Amino acid sequence: MYPCGKSCCFNKTFVNPQRLGGIFVATMWCRHGKPSSDLNLSRTHWKVCMRLSDKVIIVTGAAAGLGRAAAARFAREGASVVMADTNETAGAALAGELVSRGLKGVFVRTDVSKEGDVKALVNAALARFGRIDVLHNNAAVLYNDRDSIVHEVSLETWDIVMGVNLRGAFLCGKYVLPSMLKQGGGSIVYLGSPTGIVGCAPKLSAYSTSKAGITGLARVMAAAYARNAIRVNVIVPGTMDTPMNSYILSDDEVREQFREDVPLGRLGLPSDIEGLAVFLASDESSYCTGGVYMCDGGLTAV
Ligand SMILES: NC(=O)c1ccc[n+]([C@@H]2O[C@H](COP(=O)([O-])OP(=O)(O)OC[C@H]3O[C@@H](n4cnc5c(N)ncnc54)[C@H](O)[C@@H]3O)[C@@H](O)[C@H]2O)c1
Repeated sequence: MYPCGKSCCFNKTFVNPQRLGGIFVATMWCRHGKPSSDLNLSRTHWKVCMRLSDKVIIVTGAAAGLGRAAAARFAREGASVVMADTNETAGAALAGELVSRGLKGVFVRTDVSKEGDVKALVNAALARFGRIDVLHNNAAVLYNDRDSIVHEVSLETWDIVMGVNLRGAFLCGKYVLPSMLKQGGGSIVYLGSPTGIVGCAPKLSAYSTSKAGITGLARVMAAAYARNAIRVNVIVPGTMDTPMNSYILSDDEVREQFREDVPLGRLGLPSDIEGLAVFLASDESSYCTGGVYMCDGGLTAV
């Protein structure tokens, strides 16, 4: 916070209407060693300091829901965002929107369950931006109509869900790690789920198991790469109002029941994930690894 270490620098917040109406934090730097009482404003210079300036971030599942919100927020915080999704139309449209607002974003059509696609995604990010600082591993599928209790779920459904949710997470981690090792650090964030922590969705055995696997994968990676300054953490959203949940939330009565079950008294919005996502992607979380962070309105606390 005080770059000179002598309490003579300070932060100021102001609104820049030219930039999406967003709030930027600008740090006013003093001459190092000058006590604040001697601070002469004419000798200071301003440095606009967004929280993710200079970071290159891959976001999977960026075309909709939580991934879309995180990708757009990362870009607003100054990151160069590489957006990956199977939904080419929505993904390309988001990238176009960001670029039209002067932000840095590129879309790469990617099926995270396919090794060749993930390799191509990583190569595209490196070719375009030269490094990868953060993987925000968000892509997942939930098949309410096909997933079921264990003796009823088909092997085909099990394999598809595991393929995207767990194999995809493994592949993305596997192929971003070499560049992070070379660079000397990085941050990997996985999206877990309450269903992977408690048995709250017995009819979603494939989905729930894949999400339990995410937590295990993140912890084993956190342990393996801590001395390489690569941090691995998990965000656990609660019941969020996204396309993934439209099958339950489109029924007003069911929606009301889900809302009622949340201690904070409301469903989560895609924007609710942004602050935690930015924190874990940024250097502000440099002492955090192997963590599982709830963003669920208190759902799993009761
Ligand atoms: N919505 C919730 O209530 C909730 C709760 C807990 C956890 N989560 C987790 O949060 C993450 C985001 O969820 P969401 O609600 O935004 O989902 P969503 O379904 O709304 O969006 C998921 C995105 O991932 C993309 N995708 C699907 N398969 C893909 C593949 N093979 N390769 C690349 N992209 C693919 C989709 O096209 C879509 O754009 C997921 O990991 C999900 O498991 C969500």
